[in-house]
Amino acid sequence: MKKAVILLAVFTTFYCVKAQTNEDKKMDSFITELMKKMTIEEKIGQLNFPGGGDVVTGQAKNSNIADKVRKGNVGAILNLKGVGKIKEIQKVAVEESRLKIPLFFGLDVIHGYETGFPIPLGLAATWNIKGIEQSARIAATEVSADGINLTFSPMVDITRDARWGRVSEGSGEDPFLGGEIAKALVRGYQGDNTFKKNTEIIATVKHFALYGASESGLDYNTVDMSHQRMFNEYMYPYKAAVDAGVGSVMASFNDVDGVPATANKWLLTDVLRKKWGFKGFTMSDYTGVMEMVNHGIGNLQTVSARALKAGLDLDMIGESYLATLKKSFDEGKITEADIDKSCRYILEAKYKLGLFTNPYKYIDTKRPAKEIYTKENRDFARKIASESFVLLKNENILPLKKQGTIAVVGPLANTRSNMPGTWSVSVDLTKPATLVEGIQSVAGKNVKVLYAKGSHLTADAELEKRVTMFERGLGRENEKRTDEQMIQEALDVASKSDVIVAALGESSEYSGESSSRTDLNIPDVQQKLLAELLKTGKPVVLLVFDGRPLSLSWEKKNVPAILNVWFGGSEAAPAIADVLFGDVNPSGKLPMTFPQNVGQVPIYYNHKNTGRPLPEGHWFEKFRTNYIDVSNEPLYPFGYGLSYTNFEYGDITLSKNSIQENESLTASINVTNKGSREGQEVVQLYLRDVEGSITRPVKELKGFEKITLKPGETKTVTFKITPELLKFYNSDLDFVAEPGDFDIMIGTNSQEVKKSSFSLK
Ligand code: BGC
Repeated sequence: MKKAVILLAVFTTFYCVKAQTNEDKKMDSFITELMKKMTIEEKIGQLNFPGGGDVVTGQAKNSNIADKVRKGNVGAILNLKGVGKIKEIQKVAVEESRLKIPLFFGLDVIHGYETGFPIPLGLAATWNIKGIEQSARIAATEVSADGINLTFSPMVDITRDARWGRVSEGSGEDPFLGGEIAKALVRGYQGDNTFKKNTEIIATVKHFALYGASESGLDYNTVDMSHQRMFNEYMYPYKAAVDAGVGSVMASFNDVDGVPATANKWLLTDVLRKKWGFKGFTMSDYTGVMEMVNHGIGNLQTVSARALKAGLDLDMIGESYLATLKKSFDEGKITEADIDKSCRYILEAKYKLGLFTNPYKYIDTKRPAKEIYTKENRDFARKIASESFVLLKNENILPLKKQGTIAVVGPLANTRSNMPGTWSVSVDLTKPATLVEGIQSVAGKNVKVLYAKGSHLTADAELEKRVTMFERGLGRENEKRTDEQMIQEALDVASKSDVIVAALGESSEYSGESSSRTDLNIPDVQQKLLAELLKTGKPVVLLVFDGRPLSLSWEKKNVPAILNVWFGGSEAAPAIADVLFGDVNPSGKLPMTFPQNVGQVPIYYNHKNTGRPLPEGHWFEKFRTNYIDVSNEPLYPFGYGLSYTNFEYGDITLSKNSIQENESLTASINVTNKGSREGQEVVQLYLRDVEGSITRPVKELKGFEKITLKPGETKTVTFKITPELLKFYNSDLDFVAEPGDFDIMIGTNSQEVKKSSFSLK
């Protein structure tokens, strides 16, 4: 056994040396020569990543950046906006610093730049992998036109706890879907990974690792989980991004196995570099290095040295490396080799971006006017937004007719700045259309649109301030009407209308970073407004704005039509109208389970069985796994979403009933559009490993295909099932497929499926 391992190691080394291209060799010798000229201070300078402050993404700020650049104390800068400013500071680096090393520039381009796409959870709801890739391509083109060549996306943290505000930034609860999206986003930002074009930028996969599992859904909180769960359920999307060649990895704020990710050698070196072969650079999150003092693992000097030795290359915002690494070096606590290793990764990134050849590659002051917020980009944003909305319920109300009078009511009905959603830091918030405008423009002249706000966002004025920060205020300061008067106004408007569209839910900043909630309902005064609107007896369409799954139990029972619209980006309003009036048939599917109430959280479809599972069809039995007050069922399951047409699934046909280790089989199913409109359907494949050496989930998504069907049309969807798809990490953390029986399920969501089975011999 040992011999085999040694042989493999020799082979790997040989192969790696052989695999080094001429370009790699050229890069290596260029950097080696450059590093020979660098002082220790200049090498440490390359690891410093201060922020420019044009865009606010955290509490801390940096000062005297130009001066530090001049002295060779800065490797890269984040949060600068505008190609002119970037040009100026790059000029300082390449003309005034001793070694003239260029800088690179980072920004949070999370779901678009000035053209805003749906929040990532909404993008995930499209299940449109090509479309998601295209959104990243457009974002990279726009932001690179403004001088930026590094983004902090994709965020691929698996999220099962809707209380956590940052579920809005990721792809939801499923590793497979998350992995597909991670790869698509990397391709979109980085192209073919050669950075030949100045529209291709470095992507950063984050937050490595497990940030989505913060205890209690509380932001930045402790994470503690078994390695089996880690590798089987949480690591997959990070690894998918690494496999796709992502250029950079951001360490998460949380701890993993008791060590903050920022200084976790096992994570950053053993897993990321040695196991997964990551070749790019790592960075801390915001002030992640210095925050480890609060974590209680040492003073600033100690935590900085620990981070460097663990494999953390770039120190974002905190300037802890700059303040302490030289001292640690002088005291023999870190070596020059430790510093060199990280410095080399940063210089390699600059080399790969082509900045040593042309430091102004991404600086072309003519590009912004031509490439940012173009009609073409906005048209695409509108299209992908309309695909992200999830129709949760529809009792023959939608689509609306383009005639009569429509009351558009609610605190989200007449706001621009709350349309794009959290982390749309570069969208000009005065530009997006309001929902009222979007509806009027799509409905046309034959429709009269009436508006009333109807209620505040929440009765709690302090909470309202918190969730409308960053210029997203909803005008309470100037509000003279009482709550009763606001409702009355809405009822007056409703009484003059044929149908009511209620725009309720969360504002942009109700979710996102540092926006955890303990309550998942539509806020108090808004619910009251909704109840009053329903009492009018007029048809009500509820548009739910949210950055997370909300618990909509009361709404499901009482409202005839519900469309979940997340935050759809800069073109959200017309896109919503496109779906309301049926110009677009909704096709979004939930990437996260919607709970009945907050007490069910974390709730996710790919859970395991206990020894006392509740028998199917029951909702309570004594001494079984259940609550006494609410059933185990989700309100809406993972993968759920309706259409204006309906699809019928045939039975599953397997090409064979068993396979050997080196074989595969196909599973086919016919899907027919039974309605009278063309529609898109996401056909979902789930597998269950019936008996394993460790406990296995009751089902896992392993494939999906989004198809378009004309009325009456049938398509056969075929999935290939290979032993690779059956693999999981066993108790020794070996990635294996175990012989035995497997259930195969194909359907329209994670619950409504057709079943069959096969075995691996
Ligand atoms: C967030 C990151 C983000 C970074 C830079 C942090 O607070 O956690 O997701 O990329 O700020 O703005």
